[in-house]
Formats: sequence, C-alpha cells, structure tokens
Amino acid sequence: MADMEGFQEAKAYGLGTPQTNEAFFLKGNENRGWGVKNRLSRIFNKKSGRTVMLACDHGFIMGPTSGLERVDIAINPLIEHADCLMCTRGVLRSVIPPTMSKPVCLRADGGTSILTDLNLNRLYDIEDVLRVNASAMALMVAVGDKASEQVTTHNLVQAVDFGEKYGIPVLGVTAVGKDMARDARYFRLATRICAENGASFVKTYFTDEGFETVVAQCPVPIVIAGGKKLPEEKALELAYRAVQAGAAGVDMGRNVFQSEKPLAMMKAISAVVHDNLSPKDAFQLYSDEKAVPA
Ligand code: R5P
Repeated sequence: MADMEGFQEAKAYGLGTPQTNEAFFLKGNENRGWGVKNRLSRIFNKKSGRTVMLACDHGFIMGPTSGLERVDIAINPLIEHADCLMCTRGVLRSVIPPTMSKPVCLRADGGTSILTDLNLNRLYDIEDVLRVNASAMALMVAVGDKASEQVTTHNLVQAVDFGEKYGIPVLGVTAVGKDMARDARYFRLATRICAENGASFVKTYFTDEGFETVVAQCPVPIVIAGGKKLPEEKALELAYRAVQAGAAGVDMGRNVFQSEKPLAMMKAISAVVHDNLSPKDAFQLYSDEKAVPA
C-alpha cells in the first residue's frame, strides 16, 4: 500500500480556468493524430513555422554525388545546425550516429538510378521507418511520367495508410516527369496530387513566376529543394524568395554540401528561413562565417 504519511489533499483544480487546446501551427495538419503532429513539431520550428531540412539522400539514385563522397565527413558536422536530416536508411545505419537527436525524414522508396528508368521506385518495408525512429518518410511522386506515375502515387498512398496507422507524417516529393515543364502550372498539379493523396507536407521546386499560387493551392506546407548548385548568394536568394512567397522552409542538399563552406551555408540558410534575413545580409553572414578558421 502507498505510504500515506504526509499525504497532501489534491486541490489545484484550476476552477474558473477552462482547459485550453492550442491550434496546431502547421497548415492542413490540424485534424491529424497526436503522433503525426508531434513528429511534425520536431521537424518544423514552432516559432517560425518553418524548417531547414538537410538533404543527403542523393546517393540512392546518383551514387557518390560530389560533396557526398564521405557522408560521415561532410554531413555529420552539419546535423546539429539543421532542423531535420533527410537521408536513406543505408546512410543512416552506416554513418549517422544513433546518439544524434535531430529528427530524421527517411527516404522510404528506391529501386532505380540515373542510368535507367528514374523514379520507377518501390516502397521499402515501411516498418523500417519505425525501427529507426524516423519522424517522417519521404517518397517520390512522378506526376506526368507515364512509366512511373501510377507506381509512385500508389507508393505514396500506401505510405500514408501506414503513416496514419502509426502516427508518422509523409513527405511527398515531386519528381518532375520527363515531359513536363518545371513551371508553376506543373507544380500546382504535382503538389496538389501529393496533398490530396494524404501527404502531410510536400517538397517541390521554386519557380520564378507564380510560386505563391503553388503554395496557396496546396493545403499542406511546402518545402523547396535547392536543385543544382548555385553561387551561394543566389541560393540564399532562392530560399528567401521561397519563404517570402509562403514556403514553410527548405529541404536542401547540393547548395549546402557542395558549397565552399557548408557549415557557413547552413547557418546563413537557417537565418533566412527562420529569421527572414535578406539575401544580402545572409550572404554577409555566410562570408563572415566562412572567414572563421575551422
Ligand atoms: C532528390 O532525389 C533528393 O530527394 C534530394 O533530397 C532533393 O532533390 C533535395 O536536394 P537538392 O537541394 O540537392 O536538390
């Protein structure tokens, strides 16, 4: 029996103070389960409502991508400056220390490479997402590509079904079909299809024109990929224009790990995304950080 000595009568019932339930801060995810919301809250910063995801999953289709020849050397020192790490299960298990505490967005599909039918991917064993304690799973959806649209959309649907069961959000990654232009019209279609099939957030590319319409019509948050390496100032401008147009952050790879000073770039991108730093000031921050001896 419990020790009753010194027992204090419960009395702090907060009478007159209604219990509050705060609204969830990410658009389109209010009606999801507690587990999905909790995991999304680990990926997105609640104060800014945005995220800086560090993408290093390129090897699963591109092999030893420039800048990622040694993921342990290139990426591990950057992880603490990102809000989330996006990688494959192979890299996660082989070189990412399990002691790190950042959320992981795990690539959950694979099967093709740049040498063959790109994007004709299959879903991995989704339970692996649970085994590695991932906070989200990412899947390609190749809208408009005859060979892979159906398979990749089906992958997304299956992942969402699993995610709803176990409280894991899904990131729909728009893979541009070979015959489609990379314009706002295409990305409105592709992002909307990901969201309508249940993705909690969607990764796409920034467009010079009409990007705000891509964001507006997508009922869940959008993060942008950086794409091919740009001069640092241009990459910071890309991130700035995207978040100012409504993106909820970035999922960037090459513009970080192929930068002359990846750590300085991580810090500058983070300041753009979370603090709305202008591209000019962010480039100054990058230059100052770059000058700091390693
Ligand atoms: C592409 O297959 C991967 O999902 C990348 O993670 C994505 O494209 C983001 O990387 P980057 O900023 O280099 O485009």
